[in-house]
Amino acid sequence: TQVEKGGHKHFMAKEIAEQPTVLADAISHYVSTDGTAITLPDGGLDFTQYDRIVMVACGTANYACLTAKYWFEQIARLPVEVDIASEFRYREPPITARTLAIFVSQSGETADTLAALRYCVDKADKILSVVNVQESSIARESDMALPILAGTEIGVASTKAFTCQLNVLALLALKAAQDRGVMDQQTLSDHLSALRNLPGLMNQALGTADAMKSAARKLAQAQDVLFLGRGAMFPLALEGALKLKEISYIHAEGYASGELKHGPIALVDKKVPVVVIAPSDPLFDKSVSNMQEVMARNGKVILVTDSKGAKDAGDGVWQVLLMPEIEPFLAPILYAIPAQLLAYYTAVAKGTDVDQPRNLAKSVTVE
Ligand code: G6P
Repeated sequence: TQVEKGGHKHFMAKEIAEQPTVLADAISHYVSTDGTAITLPDGGLDFTQYDRIVMVACGTANYACLTAKYWFEQIARLPVEVDIASEFRYREPPITARTLAIFVSQSGETADTLAALRYCVDKADKILSVVNVQESSIARESDMALPILAGTEIGVASTKAFTCQLNVLALLALKAAQDRGVMDQQTLSDHLSALRNLPGLMNQALGTADAMKSAARKLAQAQDVLFLGRGAMFPLALEGALKLKEISYIHAEGYASGELKHGPIALVDKKVPVVVIAPSDPLFDKSVSNMQEVMARNGKVILVTDSKGAKDAGDGVWQVLLMPEIEPFLAPILYAIPAQLLAYYTAVAKGTDVDQPRNLAKSVTVE
């Protein structure tokens, strides 16, 4: 009903708008009041005990895991393998004793993810789950369950659960870096203080709705859309494409920018919009050259970046969507907002059933 939607047209719109608030609460749950330490439940986690992390999930939660792989590997120097649950469970992957197995699930009831978890019991050193529903099967069967504290999510397409999953995973990566002695206290405190500023930046990103609507009207005309990203923005390109196809029924694919020339560029013409997700980070120049390859083939680029990126990108971009400046480590959480808004407003422009897209279920409890 209208009251439950808090004045929004759809639950998805409400859940997108809620993100700064739920995230701020989740951050204060996991960060000490003086802002210098990460607080985990009793029993804790000691990342010196592991030489490998295996992460398993489905759908959007899987893209949160793929993002976390960049974090754990870059800042904690800990190797991570990510797999979708339906493949993992039947592949019989070898799990060594010094492995931390992490299962990420909004509902905590996804059948494939639960089966993958059961496969790891008695093999991995520890089973950790990152869930929204704390009294779920996946939480219950884990050695430790960390709540993402997103609150009830009703829209079938996951939004606030994704950013709250990313928040917990970012904190775990920072904890891992500290435990393993590869990050000093000052750097940790700096990251935590940047994290506490993130909800404010998210609010600014939510303020760009008009620009998002105008880009969405263009996307609504398309039959195919490509999403490109590099580094930790690559999983977000996958998530942006998933969101768009889930709720607007437009065919969309996410690719690593560097893979463009190995296939998807064959699709590019003036009818295929290409959404490039590229904050001005050390890889920005490379994204610009991928973008130019698209524009040289009359492809229409929608560039999601900050003001420095917009300046460096030069002419010829169809539309720029401006985000506030953010440190590269946290950019994937902030840039989830434009990915969600683009999909949302495109679906609204097409008039599809945003909260209950055809053929999809909120929680997939059968195989
Ligand atoms: C379904 C939902 C997705 C979700 C996926 C995994 O496909 O429609 O939004 O990402 O399941 O669900 P989970 O509850 O395990 O995160």
